[in-house]
Amino acid sequence: MTITIVGHGYVGLVSACCFADFGNEVYVIGHTPSKIERLKNGDPLIYEPGLKELLEKNIKANRLHFTLEYPEAVSKSEIVFITVGTPPKENGEADLEMVFDVGKQIAKNLKKKFTVISCKSTVPVGTNKQIEKILNENRPVGVEIAVASCPEFLREGSGLHDTFFADRVVIGSYSQKAINLLLELHEPITGKKVITDLASAELIKYASNSVLAMKISFANLISFYCEKAGGDVETVLDAVGFDKRIGRVFMDPGVGYGGSCFPKDVRALTSTGNLLGINTSLLQATEDINQEARMNFLNKIIKYSGGKTIGVWGLAFKPNTDDIRFAPSIDILHALLDKGYAVKVYDQEAFGNVKKIFGDKLIYSKDPYEAATGCDAIAILTDWNEFKHIDLDKIKSIMKKPVIIDGRNIYLPEVMKKLGFTYYSTGRVPVTQ
Ligand code: UGA
Repeated sequence: MTITIVGHGYVGLVSACCFADFGNEVYVIGHTPSKIERLKNGDPLIYEPGLKELLEKNIKANRLHFTLEYPEAVSKSEIVFITVGTPPKENGEADLEMVFDVGKQIAKNLKKKFTVISCKSTVPVGTNKQIEKILNENRPVGVEIAVASCPEFLREGSGLHDTFFADRVVIGSYSQKAINLLLELHEPITGKKVITDLASAELIKYASNSVLAMKISFANLISFYCEKAGGDVETVLDAVGFDKRIGRVFMDPGVGYGGSCFPKDVRALTSTGNLLGINTSLLQATEDINQEARMNFLNKIIKYSGGKTIGVWGLAFKPNTDDIRFAPSIDILHALLDKGYAVKVYDQEAFGNVKKIFGDKLIYSKDPYEAATGCDAIAILTDWNEFKHIDLDKIKSIMKKPVIIDGRNIYLPEVMKKLGFTYYSTGRVPVTQ
């Protein structure tokens, strides 16, 4: 099959590489010449484990093409995917300008008798109907189109695995012809195939992300109770999670969720709900608790560091990515700098993005040890594996005072006690010496 993917962010590029790897001919359209050149040369532009290798492999096999031009790609494709960003506006609404612009460009360049246009960007319920209208207004006479919503559920950091071994593939469309083509394309992908209407497919995406964000905020809410009233949040949540109806996944408390999806999607669903006259207080509370988790962590640094030099381990919004969009680290670093702290930072992937925001206001360290040297406290913001088995004896010996404030609960309190650390984690009894 020949397909086009407009956009080469996480969703676009991972999908393109996976579909090409199944043997399809895949065109990827971008709009920045320098980025398209880099992609053609096998540079994925983002850090995603395994992506560079898959990209290089499929470029070499001549199945994956990058271009700035719509005509050469769209005119040959049976399916065209829209995977451009839908960033939040000031009021939380998703900004759909890019999606609609792309829709227009696709429409003008359609040549095949029948083409499926499928939106993988996360868009509010009703958007695909608007895309269909734009396509119909701008398409050449005589070509037929069908619109389909095919939301994407991959996580950054495990994007390839999540695409190849998806839990489900959701296809929303009123056209059986479109559904059949999309089923054929997704055939090698594991997981349940959910065939539904456009509105349901659009809502499935927001409902999935919002319920995951709610689970995280609920875990954080319980951690606040544990901190105020005594109790161990990990024991509480483990026991709660043994109930199969609830489960334990996505209930890790800490510094809260970040990234380009949960914060934006919870706000966008709230905004859609407000427009529809629905009570959205559950979603609002999810967002408020997430913000409180960040502030709670910041207050611990201020209260317990006992000095003004802080080492920060982990800046990306989660491990295995260089992405810092809406990351807890951004709020926390800004607040620490405003309060006059000297901040030594370390992250194995995110420096490039962090430097764009903070420039030389931070002290960049080549490894976690350098970031810890001479510090009054270390604050852990991302649960990168390399922090889990670090030489804590060495860390203790190079710090001014052995204080660790852990926003990801990566160490056991009893181990930290034995090692002689003062250790404040989330929702667990503090360790003091
Ligand atoms: C999320 C969803 O998990 C994907 O299914 C979805 O496709 C994607 O958004 C999207 O809409 O594109 P992602 O944002 O890449 O994926 O990352 P997650 O692994 O979901 O983590 C999001 C945030 O929640 C991270 O900051 C992570 O540290 C935090 N988190 C996660 C917790 O604080 N606690 C947890 O228990 C789990």
